[in-house]
Amino acid sequence: MLNGRLFGLVAALACAATSAGAQGQQRQRIELPDGDGRQIVQVLCTQCHTLNNVANSGGYTRDGWRELIRSMVSMREAREDTVAAYLATHFPVKPRPEAVLVPGDATVVIREWMVPTLGSRPHDPAPGPDGSIWWTGQYANVLGRLDPKTGALREYLLKTPDSGPHGLIADKAGNIWYTGQGKRHVGKLDPLTGEVTEYQMPDTAARGPHTPIFDQKGNLWFTLQSGMVGRIVPSTGEVRVVRTPTARTYPYGIAVNSQGIPWYVDFRGNRIGSVDPETMAIREYTLPDTGARPRRIAITPDDVVWYTDYARGYLGRFDPKTGAVREWPSPGGRQSRPYGIAATGNIVWYSESGVRPNTLVRFDPATEKFQTWTIPSGGGIVRHMMATPDGNLVLALSGVNRVALVEVGKD
Ligand code: HEC
Repeated sequence: MLNGRLFGLVAALACAATSAGAQGQQRQRIELPDGDGRQIVQVLCTQCHTLNNVANSGGYTRDGWRELIRSMVSMREAREDTVAAYLATHFPVKPRPEAVLVPGDATVVIREWMVPTLGSRPHDPAPGPDGSIWWTGQYANVLGRLDPKTGALREYLLKTPDSGPHGLIADKAGNIWYTGQGKRHVGKLDPLTGEVTEYQMPDTAARGPHTPIFDQKGNLWFTLQSGMVGRIVPSTGEVRVVRTPTARTYPYGIAVNSQGIPWYVDFRGNRIGSVDPETMAIREYTLPDTGARPRRIAITPDDVVWYTDYARGYLGRFDPKTGAVREWPSPGGRQSRPYGIAATGNIVWYSESGVRPNTLVRFDPATEKFQTWTIPSGGGIVRHMMATPDGNLVLALSGVNRVALVEVGKD
């Protein structure tokens, strides 16, 4: 079922998360309390992650635990009952910021699908050119494809074990490009043949390829956790990476504006950056609050840059024309941990990952009004979302092993 290599990968990912420094959680050895079910939890629940996930979670009711663990493991019913009862007794629901529901006139329908491999950590989603929804199964070394019309799901195993697929994006021909965070490459999957082509990083200092995006010319831009931004020119196969001016940065989300200029956010500082698409020279911009940790980015058609301030619980707006920054407190408050963000036309959408259940937030820049919905499965941390060409949204629900389609304007 699970092999030693996966443990290695998970350990590496855990380190990456810790070094991000913003998880706000303690990592320590967890001693499970005695009780019926302890042994099963000790063995079964440490195969993909440590028991810190259990201890640091918000806790659940018996039904809540049952529902959650079904996205990770499959067990006989009696065994599942024992485990759910044990967990609910020793890890009951803790006080945690609750979703704040803000009513409004917009309507959405949120549809969810469980992906085939359990516990696969669907990290990022991307729309395919044919109406499909793609995701990275980070812990399972797969890319997945969903046809939302039929519900058909298919996973493509990647070539190199433990690639750690993190972000992904489709090109115009329908190939799916992904960042192999664990193995320092960017890959291209041809869904027709299943064939994978890997583009290695040019030097060993270039680690943790993170989030990819295409510009209008068909060049692929991507952030790297090692304080860099990279570019692949598919027509020549050229791979180039450049360092950010500031040392020890963590370029995270990335988006391209209407002029073909990539913008990224730095999750390790209060700054965002832009890249000259010809020279790859990076320019950094400082956000006013030193505590700001922008994690994901979206750009509206007016080329205004929007970001989720994960650490402080804000939605931010940066206007490159004037340099002005504006911020709005997220409806769920300081602990709401705004994360995945996308724009459909002039409307900004994002998810609050720190509230229970996770929310979908809509913000209209014209009226400066928020509206929120809860994500039916709870969300399990929505690390990324993207707009589809027809103005809907695709979401990856990492901790509950699902992908979602948000149909905007439907009710
Ligand atoms: C096949 C892999 C796998 C196994 C086995 C597994 N999990 Fe998980 N689990 C995951 C993944 C993937 C996540 C998401 C981790 C992340 O995003 O950081 C997760 C996250 C969690 C979380 C965090 C969710 C939250 O609400 O904060 C809890 C709690 C959890 N697992 C409990 C368990 C328990 C209990 C078991 C044993 C019954 C178990 N897991 C077994 C893959 C697995």
